Amino acid sequence: MIREGDFRDFKEMLKLERQGFPREHVYSPYYLNYLLKKPNSIVLKVLAEQKMVGFIISLLSQATREAHIINLTVHPSFRRRGYGKLLLQSTEERAKKKEMIACYLEVRVNNESAINLYKKTGYKIEGVVKEYYTYPLLESRDAYKMRKRL
Ligand SMILES: CC(C)(COP(=O)(O)OP(=O)(O)OC[C@H]1O[C@@H](n2cnc3c(N)ncnc32)[C@H](O)[C@@H]1OP(=O)(O)O)[C@@H](O)C(=O)NCCC(=O)NCCS
Repeated sequence: MIREGDFRDFKEMLKLERQGFPREHVYSPYYLNYLLKKPNSIVLKVLAEQKMVGFIISLLSQATREAHIINLTVHPSFRRRGYGKLLLQSTEERAKKKEMIACYLEVRVNNESAINLYKKTGYKIEGVVKEYYTYPLLESRDAYKMRKRL
């Protein structure tokens, strides 16, 4: 079940994010808080067994008419059930209704599961962003930029 999320989900989202990513890869609480309060964001959560098991946040630009997907996380115990795909597609539908023409994102070059998900849902690799991630402990800090026209 997809629901809109907001700043009241902050704590739960931070917890999920910490479970979803290697420790050094987590966005700062300040950044998450900022994203949840932006009026031009789309924040969606997926509920299963009466709790939030995943979420997605994207920022819309009226200037470029593109939605930038900033984060997507599904709880490890709830993966491979289609929730990631559902969150992504629900964001695309909403972005389209808000007259966006494309969605784009960055993904670590060795994040196979996420790259597979994006490719499967129609995203194409546009190029590599060198040193996109700054965390020193990551074995790879480069990211693919991927885009889908809506
Ligand atoms: C990436 C992530 C969001 C996927 O969520 P999910 O709910 O498991 O994804 P779905 O069940 O919707 O998977 C859809 C498709 O993606 C691909 N996929 C997902 N996980 C995969 C994996 N571990 N290995 C290979 N392909 C995978 C498959 O093609 C899958 O379809 P299938 O199950 O019919 O084969 C989840 O693994 C996650 O939270 N990872 C950590 C955070 C992260 O990396 N986020 C993305 C940052 S850019």
